[in-house]
Amino acid sequence: MILVTGGAGFIGSNFVLDWIEATGEPVLNLDALTYAGNLRNLASLQGDPRHVFVQGDICDRALLDRLFAEHRPRAVLHFAAESHVDRSIHGPGAFMRTNVEGTFTLLEAARQHWAALPADKKAAFRFHHVSTDEVYGSLAPDAPAFTEIHPYEPNSPYSASKAASDHLVRAWHHTYGLPVVTTNCSNNYGPYHFPEKLIPLLIVNALAGKPLPVYGDGQQVRDWLYVGDHCSAIRAVLANGRLGETYNIGGWNEQANIDIVHTVCKLLDELRPDPAGPYKRLITFVTDRPGHDRRYAIDARKIERELGWRPAETFASGIRKTLQWYLANADWVAEVQSGSYRDWVAQNYAARAPGA
Ligand code: NAD
Ligand code: TYD
Repeated sequence: MILVTGGAGFIGSNFVLDWIEATGEPVLNLDALTYAGNLRNLASLQGDPRHVFVQGDICDRALLDRLFAEHRPRAVLHFAAESHVDRSIHGPGAFMRTNVEGTFTLLEAARQHWAALPADKKAAFRFHHVSTDEVYGSLAPDAPAFTEIHPYEPNSPYSASKAASDHLVRAWHHTYGLPVVTTNCSNNYGPYHFPEKLIPLLIVNALAGKPLPVYGDGQQVRDWLYVGDHCSAIRAVLANGRLGETYNIGGWNEQANIDIVHTVCKLLDELRPDPAGPYKRLITFVTDRPGHDRRYAIDARKIERELGWRPAETFASGIRKTLQWYLANADWVAEVQSGSYRDWVAQNYAARAPGA
């Protein structure tokens, strides 16, 4: 089996569902179930012996040692993280703990397990670290997209903590020989995306007739990838990625935030017209995020060339699928919104004056 950390979060739960469907191989899913972890995402696996869920913290070394000894996973897929930039600005401590100390603790537990394996299993073992393009910092408008050798220039507490975790993973390979691969992916979107991030927030706010908050001038550029394509890229790297290498994952799909907002509004006008008028009436410019990175863009040529990976979705097909999923899963949205999410929204937006 494989050990997935953070498998109840947005990308982790998409990955667990994708993995079991694509490979049938069992998953041991370790997740602390923070505000971002939601077992409802995995409801379709209830009673399926190929999914073993353990609620626990990646900083808990004794728990990790017990799980490695009991389940003897052949690979670790490390998704668990604090992942929201705005939260990292309000409270960076949790990011240092989970993303840095948690990755360190997991690396040490994996190293102890791996070191004691027989030679064939030792050679086949993998530690796959799931990371982000945000570690590279912000690009000028005309600069070439991030390659794997772009310098690390993280600008937010979130990206700094992820950069630190990437460095730890690299060092555990070079120093101890732990068989690692790291992937740095661009912004994901798709089903089960927690509505604190831009795209799901736009969808749920629009459907509720609430303002669609655009930070600053809305001209920040992100490179969007459908979450299912991130999952297939991770499978490709786990299977055939070269040890100690990093692979950038992206869909060659750069868009300014304001264009994303208009696309979501237009699609909703088509799929769920609002008698009160077009959704763009709800667009509200608000105070910018401090230290807001202007542009991310991924050069995905390495994974395409070495592993033959290509995204299956265009942005047009992926965003339509995503909107259709949210429209068909109003109960999922309602459940998410009834929890601590509401407190978070109040905390984040109260201090943002309209009309940035
Ligand atoms: P998420 O916030 O939706 O999910 C994170 C999961 O980790 C949650 O289920 C949470 O309960 C769990 N978790 C948090 N702290 C934990 C701890 N101490 N121990 C165990 N579990 C813990 O995040 P996501 O968007 O699914 O991102 C997953 C990974 O992918 C992260 O490492 C993130 O940096 C990376 N990534 C995300 C994106 C994106 O666009 N969302 C893009 C590139 C890379
Ligand atoms: P987000 O989904 O938080 O991802 P990240 O910060 O990791 O890229 O934000 C995507 C972009 O959208 C980012 O430039 C910030 C912007 N944004 C808004 O304009 N309004 C919002 O309410 C949110 C959450 C994000």
